[in-house]
Amino acid sequence: PRLFALVPCAGVGERAGAGGPKQYAPLAGRPLVGHTLAALAQVSRLSGVLVVLSPDDTQFEQVVPQTSAWVERVGGASRAASVANGLAALQARGAQPHDWVLVHDAARCLLRPEWVDHLIDACLDDEVGGLLALPLADTLKHEVDGRVDTTLDRGGKWQAQTPQMFRLGLLRPALVQAGDAVTDEASAVEALGHRPKLVRGALENFKITYPPDFELAARLLTSR
Ligand code: CTP
Ligand code: MG
Repeated sequence: PRLFALVPCAGVGERAGAGGPKQYAPLAGRPLVGHTLAALAQVSRLSGVLVVLSPDDTQFEQVVPQTSAWVERVGGASRAASVANGLAALQARGAQPHDWVLVHDAARCLLRPEWVDHLIDACLDDEVGGLLALPLADTLKHEVDGRVDTTLDRGGKWQAQTPQMFRLGLLRPALVQAGDAVTDEASAVEALGHRPKLVRGALENFKITYPPDFELAARLLTSR
């Protein structure tokens, strides 16, 4: 089977408050998504990288003028819809059901090619596939009416990251079935009764979500 990366890049970046889609914010001398695509371009086992843009995106080609990635303007109202539409586009470009797809958030721009290789090594012979994730570091509280109802057991709980690696033939129907609410690929696959593999990611592989994330990411990228 071949391996492809699919990069959902069609969000509006509301929480980041960058005055536009966060994936195009300048960061350490490049638009944010430029870092993400540069890391994926160094993963030699990938046969192709497909970027999913919003249908009314006007910025990608301007700010990322040179890229070997394929671009499709099929972004949807949710991340899940953008990924599902991207998978259809990947299939139209010749990807087969048994091929692997690594879905990676455009907004996780600190990605290192080694982490992707680590995920591929861990999942290539797996029945289901898997995802980068990290054991939870903070204590977890369940809230009722603004107060702590209970403290949950942190043991055995992981925070999901991306990339998440599944076969096209499993992931596409899983996402269609799951609908707009799922926030990652694994949960759609889990809903079909499968148990994706947890592969240790990195603290640095955080997603740019809130305003302070930009400065931290810029410092880390500059110091590399
Ligand atoms: N994404 C997408 N299509 C959507 C929503 C999100 O392709 N309809 C992408 C984003 O561009 C991002 C990734 O999915 O690369 C993770 O989503 P998130 O961090 O939630 O980004 P936004 O949805 O843009 O941010 P916010 O939720 O704060 O508006
Ligand atoms: Mg979002």
